[in-house]
Amino acid sequence: MGKREKKQRHQQRNPHRGASYYAAEQDDDYDYQLSLPSSSYSSDSKPSVPEEEEEEEEEKAEEKEEQEQEDDKNEEHPSKNMPSKFDLYQQSVQSPKGDISYMQKFFLMYVGGRLPLYLQEDFCGTALLSAEWIRSNSRRTAVGLDLDLEALNWCLEKNISRVGADGYSRISLFHGNVLQPLEAKLVNFEPQELISNITLQEGKDGSETCALESTVQVGSTADDKYMKSLPLPPRDIVCAFNYSCCCLHKRAELVLYFKHVLDALSKEGGIFVMDLYGGTSSEHKLRLQRRFANFTYVWEQAEFDVVERKTRISLHFLLQKQQKKLRHAFSYSWRLWSLPEIKDCLEEAGFRSVHFWLREMPDTEEIRTTEGFGEGRDVKYEEVKSFQQQDAWNAYIVGVA
Ligand SMILES: C[S@@+](CC[C@H](N)C(=O)[O-])C[C@H]1O[C@@H](n2cnc3c(N)ncnc32)[C@H](O)[C@@H]1O
Repeated sequence: MGKREKKQRHQQRNPHRGASYYAAEQDDDYDYQLSLPSSSYSSDSKPSVPEEEEEEEEEKAEEKEEQEQEDDKNEEHPSKNMPSKFDLYQQSVQSPKGDISYMQKFFLMYVGGRLPLYLQEDFCGTALLSAEWIRSNSRRTAVGLDLDLEALNWCLEKNISRVGADGYSRISLFHGNVLQPLEAKLVNFEPQELISNITLQEGKDGSETCALESTVQVGSTADDKYMKSLPLPPRDIVCAFNYSCCCLHKRAELVLYFKHVLDALSKEGGIFVMDLYGGTSSEHKLRLQRRFANFTYVWEQAEFDVVERKTRISLHFLLQKQQKKLRHAFSYSWRLWSLPEIKDCLEEAGFRSVHFWLREMPDTEEIRTTEGFGEGRDVKYEEVKSFQQQDAWNAYIVGVA
């Protein structure tokens, strides 16, 4: 991969951050897997069907349903060589280096005077960002918090093991709700378990070498270790990425969450950074896909309810080699907050100032009809006081404590 291509990949990952990579490409090799039409959009642009063709359409729909049931069965019994859904998610959705670089910039601009060392990643999932954070500087530590114990365990086993010898001592993952962070339980890393899984093998020259079982279960929650009872350093930065604040549906919940964030931030100065997407394309049904070497990633946006400003987002992975689909690998019910709503809630929670950094994203209709990957645009985020509506935009929102 060339340097420029790498940079574009790095900067453009998830659908609204990375919309230019969701070109609706034809791929005959795995069209058999696709229950969706060859266009990215699933229904909006469907032509009306004459009556005599209706029966045929119904049959097709039944076939499609059967195929989907078959796929669901496959998902229940994934074959051994199936990649993990977390691995696929990390490859297609996340860009931790880009987020860290912006967070450092924001910290320098709005706080300054010291290097940010202590991070809290709320809604962390597999905490890839936290892993990258502690890897970026040996003095850095991270706290991760999420409701999904499976994702946290996966992080300990796969992401932290890659950080280096002291990785486990510089990260604390908590299983719990961001609305009650102090009640969250520490997910234990059991070095004893790891040690007991080390076996001695004979090297070629007769010397003994260690081999580590890679499938060892490293995480379990500790009954007595709650966030409230552990001496964690005040955080320099708290973040919530990949639109996670949209998981909170009520205004009161959002304000309560922001108050907890403020409590966790250092009294010497700290920032909260979250992201948000929007634009006209975010308020209707939409299906975008992006191809990777071994799989295709699909972002499916359900109809948008304007009364509650809610939608359902489903992420699917189509695996070429295994000829399998991981449908609904991840599914979220989101309330799509507006920028001023977030600002009001942050201020109400007690943040001193709020800053918006926006970038326009490639037009979803255009990328849908672009052959291949199209020209990826290297557009940077800029701090704005106003921004005219676009088809798609992405924002970092920074709250200064
Ligand atoms: C969209 S994912 C984002 C994951 C990760 N932050 C990323 O950047 O990819 C949302 C995550 O929030 C978690 N979540 C949702 N509601 C939560 C809550 N009230 N408290 C803690 N975690 C929550 C889910 O389990 C999921 O891992």
